[in-house]
Amino acid sequence: MNQIPIQFAPLQGYTEAPFRNFHEKYFGGVDRYFAPFLRVQHKEIRRKDQRDVLPDKNTVNKLIPQIMASEISEADFLVRFLVENGYRHIDINMGCPFPMLVRRHLGSGILPYPDEVARLLEITRHYPDIHFSVKIRLGSEQADECLRLVDLLNEFPLEQVAVHARLGVQQYKGDCDRMAFGAFAARCSHPLVYNGDIQSIEQIKQITTEFPQLSAIMIGRGLLAQPWLASEYMDGVLWDAGRKQQALRRFHADLQDYYVQTIEGGELQLLHKLQSFWEYFLVDADRKLRKKIKKATKMSAYSDAVYQLIRALE
Ligand SMILES: Cc1cc2nc3c(=O)[nH]c(=O)nc-3n(C[C@H](O)[C@H](O)[C@H](O)COP(=O)(O)O)c2cc1C
Repeated sequence: MNQIPIQFAPLQGYTEAPFRNFHEKYFGGVDRYFAPFLRVQHKEIRRKDQRDVLPDKNTVNKLIPQIMASEISEADFLVRFLVENGYRHIDINMGCPFPMLVRRHLGSGILPYPDEVARLLEITRHYPDIHFSVKIRLGSEQADECLRLVDLLNEFPLEQVAVHARLGVQQYKGDCDRMAFGAFAARCSHPLVYNGDIQSIEQIKQITTEFPQLSAIMIGRGLLAQPWLASEYMDGVLWDAGRKQQALRRFHADLQDYYVQTIEGGELQLLHKLQSFWEYFLVDADRKLRKKIKKATKMSAYSDAVYQLIRALE
């Protein structure tokens, strides 16, 4: 068995604590889960974001919280909060493409500025006992931005570098650029993780054959589309329809219960929260039933459509 570890990419609005917890409980196969980024807003971290990483809300075996900052003082504030909550491994987001953040040199917006990256990464020296990793893109606007950063990244003590093989300006669409990833890979001396558009076991095998030096594969939307993918790959056993259906029913029931207990407001708020997952969840399932789920205006219609969709899975 020489499977490469699978990491669950952070997806803000999707892979929050209950989703991660129930994913590990019912599907598994994931080596580590990355939490969506925390950032400083009006000199504090949003309560909701704080709660998402509190240890008593998280049951997964290995959770890596992520921070986003453009300056070391902000990074320090975020790291202190996480260290106080017992974390010893923290990921730094240099990949987020949202224009409002990019303009402020946050996320992928920092990539064109090696000096600013260097200043930010000094945080790793301030906390020598903490393991830091980074998640980057090839660049914000040009794929050679990562090449201008690679020597600098090599100088810092990083546990891994995960590269989403796109540019910030592409957001989440368009092709991943494996050539540019390869050029970065050839010079990166840290454990390297590939991320971007992995949807199947064949693609995992392809990418690990093309880049045998990879230390892990990070998957986001592919694990929302097929929550069993990591488990199938790790065990080398495909899940049959019965197993998928049973796991999905339990997963969904637990997720729903969690939000019934925690969401303030009425049926509509609950419905909106559950419907929001279906943007990426099981995207390959029956189109009409997915539409029914997303368009439901009552919990009864929603639950009926979810029941039918899961029963129709192959
Ligand atoms: C809705 C959404 C939210 C995301 N949130 C984050 C985030 O909080 N932190 C981060 O580093 N990447 C975030 N990403 C990027 C993903 O982690 C990942 O890099 C990207 O989706 C490509 O991988 P995939 O094709 O396997 O999904 C987000 C992506 C999407 C679509």
